[in-house]
Amino acid sequence: TAKRRADYLPPAFSIPLVDLTISLHPTKTVVKSKLSVKRRLTKDSVKDTEKNDGNKSQPLILDGNKLSLVSVHINGTPFSDYTLDDETLTLNVDTDDFELEIENHIDPENNKALEGLYLSGGAYCTQCEAEGFRRITFFPDRPDVLSVYTVKVIGDKSFPMLLSNGNPIERGENPDGTHFVTWHDPHPKPCYLFALVAGDFDLLTDTYITTSGKEVALELYVDKGKKSQGTFALASLKRAMKWDEDVFGLEYDLDIYMIVAVDFFNMGAMENKGLNVFNSKFVLADQDSATDDDFFNVEAVIAHEYFHNWTGNRVTCRDWFQLSLKEGLTVFRDQQFSADMTSPLSNRIKHVRVMREHQFAEDASAMSHPIRPEEVIEMNNFYTVTVYDKGAEVIRMFHTLLGPEGFRKGMDEYFRRHDGQAVTCDDFVSAMQSTTELDLTQFSRWYSQSGTPQVSLAHNVTSNETGYVHTFTVTQNTPSTADQSEKLPLYIPVGFEVIDEDGNRYRDDSGMIQNDLLIVDAPEITITITCDAKKLTPVLLGNFSAPVKVHNELDTASLLTIFAHSQDAFNRWDAMQTLYNRCISELYENPTATIDSGIWAGIHAAIDSEIDNIELLSECLVIPSFETLCQSRSNISVQPLIDARKAFCRQFSTQLEAVLLNAFNGIATQAYSYQQDAVNARRCKNVLLSHLARLPQHKDLVISQFDKADNMTDTLGALKAAQSLPADAFESLMAKFEEKWRHDPLVLDKWFALHATQPREDILATITMLSEHPQFSMGNPNRVRSLIGSFAFYNSERFHNLGGEGYKFVTDYLIKLDALNPQVAARIVTPLIQWQGFAEPHQALMKAQLGRLLNHKGLSKDVFEKVSKSLAYD
Ligand code: ARG
Ligand code: ZN
Repeated sequence: TAKRRADYLPPAFSIPLVDLTISLHPTKTVVKSKLSVKRRLTKDSVKDTEKNDGNKSQPLILDGNKLSLVSVHINGTPFSDYTLDDETLTLNVDTDDFELEIENHIDPENNKALEGLYLSGGAYCTQCEAEGFRRITFFPDRPDVLSVYTVKVIGDKSFPMLLSNGNPIERGENPDGTHFVTWHDPHPKPCYLFALVAGDFDLLTDTYITTSGKEVALELYVDKGKKSQGTFALASLKRAMKWDEDVFGLEYDLDIYMIVAVDFFNMGAMENKGLNVFNSKFVLADQDSATDDDFFNVEAVIAHEYFHNWTGNRVTCRDWFQLSLKEGLTVFRDQQFSADMTSPLSNRIKHVRVMREHQFAEDASAMSHPIRPEEVIEMNNFYTVTVYDKGAEVIRMFHTLLGPEGFRKGMDEYFRRHDGQAVTCDDFVSAMQSTTELDLTQFSRWYSQSGTPQVSLAHNVTSNETGYVHTFTVTQNTPSTADQSEKLPLYIPVGFEVIDEDGNRYRDDSGMIQNDLLIVDAPEITITITCDAKKLTPVLLGNFSAPVKVHNELDTASLLTIFAHSQDAFNRWDAMQTLYNRCISELYENPTATIDSGIWAGIHAAIDSEIDNIELLSECLVIPSFETLCQSRSNISVQPLIDARKAFCRQFSTQLEAVLLNAFNGIATQAYSYQQDAVNARRCKNVLLSHLARLPQHKDLVISQFDKADNMTDTLGALKAAQSLPADAFESLMAKFEEKWRHDPLVLDKWFALHATQPREDILATITMLSEHPQFSMGNPNRVRSLIGSFAFYNSERFHNLGGEGYKFVTDYLIKLDALNPQVAARIVTPLIQWQGFAEPHQALMKAQLGRLLNHKGLSKDVFEKVSKSLAYD
């Protein structure tokens, strides 16, 4: 049964104080909860349709899932006037202000869903967002009930570290040999921010002094023996703390900030107040075992969770439909931070790839939803690229429209109004509105309208006595989506630059383009430019100014003009991507076509011109992925498109061999450091290597890089390039790699993923064999994602092309996985539900497997929601 945003009612009771005593035991953990409960004597929490007596007689309804209830007391007396079902405990209380004590048992060892309290990898830990707290104790598990928590954690001494939110206020030993620590968190918080961790870890410590002089103890807990792999994360945390003070004036607000890295985790990380829990993949990093991308991600995720302390914790969400309030905003903040720490251009390109490869695909599927969803069956399914990444693009548009200072003013006002509250996306917009002249009414449709808008440009030229008159007609149109058929015009800031062949820039006659931005707020906008130039090139969507698709028919010469002359580096990169995409289309339509030699000459010249600008160069040398190519096509025949892409890549290598090799040799190898120049050099070298590896004569370059590499970036670069070498060469490198890294699960994940993305015909046998590898376990989400997830998401050639065997293999696996961990299963079902882009027989074969899934008895809500929507969408 779905919940709807429109049905929100405020809670009938508030719970100002929560006092928990948790005695840890693998299969029978005892949870004693003491709550101060106050009836909210207002009418707002009662539906009008019901007899409304101002909430004087509503029962107290608590969520609870997979809990064994032991006892209930009210004001110290046993209480039995309640009903209990699988999801709720309903207490028929008639008092307005009372103390409620509940005792229940839970079984952390057998909790394989990794939601609530679970024991894995030798440690206890929790994951409560979105609705996991109800698996720990009975509680109104909703983000608008804020409480001050005191938590006593009792555990065996083999778990020396007993952690929870806030500050430790007492510790000691019990007569039975156990010990305890009591924690107090003075900041009222929703229960999804509760956390508990117990285990034996290595501890890294540091301190941070805030601008106003407060000293904060920083503690990072990692698996024994991994201490040296935690230093980068800790340094990243300090950079994030400083950045948030400098850019947003936001300081940390407790005496201690703890981060724990665990191996079993459904997501990336979690911002629990004062006690973040992280997937170890986003904490551990060193030169030998982590790539430059891994370092980048560690810093970005550390920052993301830290930034949540203000955007998420101090100001939280009223209900889960508002998730983008904290996630879109926090992703935007972490993106800005990463851009400041590394480089704006490569960051922007990264975001755009995520949008084009994943978010546009989501919008085109049955899971299409606005960044503020209207209807949800399983909340965990809505931690999506739409809520997060499109959400961040919407925040970025505020930033673009208001400017950095205007945006900061709006943020200050948002915190001034809402610190300590649980609020809505509308509250955010209205805080922003109060600080700007701009009318944000139409803009705010971005919160309610789903789908990927298409912005199209038509360009006409006439001449008169004053010169040439160029008319540019810009139209917007949002195709209907699975969830919403009617679409309204949006307020779209479209980057707009007009240049001639020599790169001269032109202004429009009536000055509608301001700061290279045209506001497209109607279905159609027309501008004119009167000048002496007969040929002008319009360049749209500078810096990806809005999350839209652009149709702008440009010839090859214009694309090369943009590359040569646009002032916007993103546009320059994008022009090359368009050019490649165009060439691949030619080969898709006619496999025997040859690419015009003028194009190769143009690309050659482009490479030559940027030989000293290796950051842009490397990005420009990346051919659009199969997933990106899918987003500008419909009714896709998979193998012909893959073949067209391969043919283009092969010609790219052959035609440009000399210049690629020259560039490759021109990049000096330097000692490893995670510094931007060094990162750019490695990146460029590895992209070049992947092109050269297609030519048999350069096989040795790959092998020699693998043998000589003193860092994981180059090792992995060589292995990826080796995917296009003959199978035996690839296999032998992979064997050496496994030999060396067999005991490091995070590195082995890379090895699993490399295997799973090999387009070999017997890939299913390989995956089956790997799933029996001693290091593989279905219970560990990182392993499952690296092997099964990589196959389904990134081995398109084999996933789609084994006469349906790939779909069936993934489905069989998902049926088993779903019984254990529905959240992870529901993630991996994504490629299967995105059947709508493909031609037959793919659609029918995919739907047949979805049908099998849907018929499976005991399917989780998570998988059910996605599969049933997908099958209903036609
Ligand atoms: N709030 C976390 C983050 O953005 C993600 C938690 C998601 N949890 C979930 N069960 N879906 O960093
Ligand atoms: Zn987040």
